[in-house]
Amino acid sequence: MGRRLPQIFFALSLFALVLIIAAVWQASTPSWKKYQHEYLQMEAQGEPNAVTKAAVLNTPPQIQQILLPGLQRVDRCTTCHQGVEDPTMKNAPEPFHYHQGLGPHVPSKFGCTICHGGQGLATDVKDAHGNVPFWQTPLLPADYVRASCGRCHKEGDIPGVPELTEGRRLFETEGCRGCHKLNGIGGSIGPDLSEEGASLRSPQWLEQHFLNPSAVSPGSAMPNFHFTRGQARALTYYMLSLTNADMGAYYASEPLIPSPSYGRELFVQKDCLVCHSIGGVGAKVGPDLLGVTKRHSTNWLDEQLVNPQLVYPGSSMPAFDMPATERKAVIAFLATATATDAQAIVAGKGQAPTPEDAAIAAGKLDFGRFGCAGCHGTDLQGGVPNPNAQGGEVPSLLHLASDYSKDDVLEIIRNGRVPPLANTKGPQPPLYMPAWKNLLSDEDIHQIVEFLWSKQQKSQDNW
Ligand code: HEC
Ligand code: HEC
Ligand code: HEC
Ligand code: HEC
Ligand code: HEC
Ligand code: HEC
Repeated sequence: MGRRLPQIFFALSLFALVLIIAAVWQASTPSWKKYQHEYLQMEAQGEPNAVTKAAVLNTPPQIQQILLPGLQRVDRCTTCHQGVEDPTMKNAPEPFHYHQGLGPHVPSKFGCTICHGGQGLATDVKDAHGNVPFWQTPLLPADYVRASCGRCHKEGDIPGVPELTEGRRLFETEGCRGCHKLNGIGGSIGPDLSEEGASLRSPQWLEQHFLNPSAVSPGSAMPNFHFTRGQARALTYYMLSLTNADMGAYYASEPLIPSPSYGRELFVQKDCLVCHSIGGVGAKVGPDLLGVTKRHSTNWLDEQLVNPQLVYPGSSMPAFDMPATERKAVIAFLATATATDAQAIVAGKGQAPTPEDAAIAAGKLDFGRFGCAGCHGTDLQGGVPNPNAQGGEVPSLLHLASDYSKDDVLEIIRNGRVPPLANTKGPQPPLYMPAWKNLLSDEDIHQIVEFLWSKQQKSQDNW
């Protein structure tokens, strides 16, 4: 037994030494080398003979980085995510998976972090994915990655991302600007949202906040709009897309994607159906446009829109002077246009509105856009709590006509008003009526008053 002890001791020391060496090796071999090694092994499997296999396996490990001066960043994500541009890696596990659907956003020009977040320079999984205390923008969860599309594509529809269009629409119609500035326009009761997409707020925080502001920010003066989950999601997308970060000229060159829906808008606006038909619906001055993109190439159609005289000398078709993006959009629309849609366009035209109706419609738009709806409600019903104001809430605007003349109301909107206190010793109520004369022209305010008057409920004793 005694003789065995040195042997056991030796074995144990050897074991400890192996452990130490392994630990040192692991510490000095960064994880990205391990991933590159694994990737090479996968690639080598596809090689036909031992020589080429060996050549692949002997590729020295190397940090890969994409310099993106136009986006002011350097991305090293492809150091591990090696298969993003290799379609044969369609079935490979992460981080080697082929990246579908990048379209023109190729890694060499766009990198990864502009869409995904994360820490471009890091080469360790945890650091790169930004799940570390000092890094402010961890990877966006998969559900929210598409919010980033709105950092560059700021107008119109983005194919596959209806949330951004909806979020922008809600922002402009629900009165958010009454309390929030965005790019210089809006009130200052809530924080400026121009850089909300670069703030520390996580998608989950934003979404919860939209569902119930005061549950997330106790005592918040932001009303609960009773948004649906879908609406809260859409607004969250829109918030995440808001940054004023300077995108290089190329990246900012396509704020509006020439999508079919944008093309349809232009087609309606330019009244193409006064001369053309689609599948027999419309006028017969010019040819029917059903399937026109199958009869002519995109370049030919583009030429036709730039200069109808060039293709058909003596043409009665006017040159529309549309920029390239608009022409692209119209052609995209023509590729999808149907007779049913043409019917909808013809039906939608109806009669031209009267000047009064137009003023009321413009006023309604401004009421949403400039944030009146945020405090007074989209239906003018009031009711947003305003502690220690007389009445305790923002007033309804449905009975103005019984208290004021139109001119009085014009003055109130121009100059704003601080509500009288319910309890004179109590604190100022959080919400007051801002002065609008610096933001809105007299004509805008007139139109808003016309809109308000169109909604006045006749008082009971008026008969
Ligand atoms: C050191 C290697 C490494 C680097 C560097 C790296 N990743 Fe990853 N990534 C991985 C691995 C491994 C996975 C597989 C799942 C996991 O471990 O999270 C992964 C998964 C992902 C996923 C899938 C979502 C998820 O969390 O499962 C995304 C998106 C991603 N990485 C983006 C990035 C971006 C963007 C960068 C650059 C800022 C980056 N990665 C840098 C190794 C890396
Ligand atoms: C133009 C924006 C854009 C760029 C640039 C981009 N991605 Fe993606 N990526 C997306 C979208 C969108 C998805 C799909 C998310 C979803 O719905 O699952 C995605 C999915 C992924 C996934 C699958 C896991 C997941 O979260 O669903 C990984 C991994 C990934 N990207 C890594 C990268 C890497 C690495 C780069 C840089 C080489 C990169 N991406 C560049 C937009 C982008
Ligand atoms: C960093 C800015 C940036 C981001 C982020 C971005 N794009 Fe783009 N996108 C561009 C630019 C620039 C072009 C024009 C590319 C070109 O023609 O070279 C473009 C083109 C497009 C096109 C038109 C493609 C075509 O064939 O004409 C679509 C569709 C598109 N992007 C969708 C998206 C979607 C969806 C996302 C989010 C997953 C996204 N983009 C994110 C800048 C961006
Ligand atoms: C009556 C005033 C008011 C209206 C209307 C209003 N908000 Fe707010 N909002 C606030 C106040 C006050 C805060 C700060 C307290 C808090 O976090 O809730 C806030 C906070 C926020 C925040 C969090 C900002 C941050 O990072 O701290 C976002 C995002 C936001 N609002 C978006 C919106 C949107 C979008 C709308 C329109 C649907 C809207 N708000 C309408 C008053 C308002
Ligand atoms: C930040 C919240 C807020 C916004 C935004 C706001 N208001 Fe007001 N408004 C109030 C409050 C609070 C009062 C009550 C003032 C008082 O009691 O004297 C008020 C009063 C009014 C009144 C007088 C109502 C009465 O019965 O005395 C009118 C008219 C009015 N607002 C119209 C507007 C219009 C039009 C807009 C948009 C251009 C607008 N408000 C935007 C908070 C707001
Ligand atoms: C004033 C009448 C008129 C208007 C308005 C008009 N077009 Fe035309 N268009 C014509 C005529 C006529 C032709 C047939 C060729 C010719 O004589 O120029 C034509 C030809 C075309 C063609 C080629 C069709 C083919 O099969 O060869 C296209 C595409 C086209 N127009 C698209 C449009 C679009 C898109 C608009 C709206 C932006 C529009 N047109 C507005 C009269 C018009």
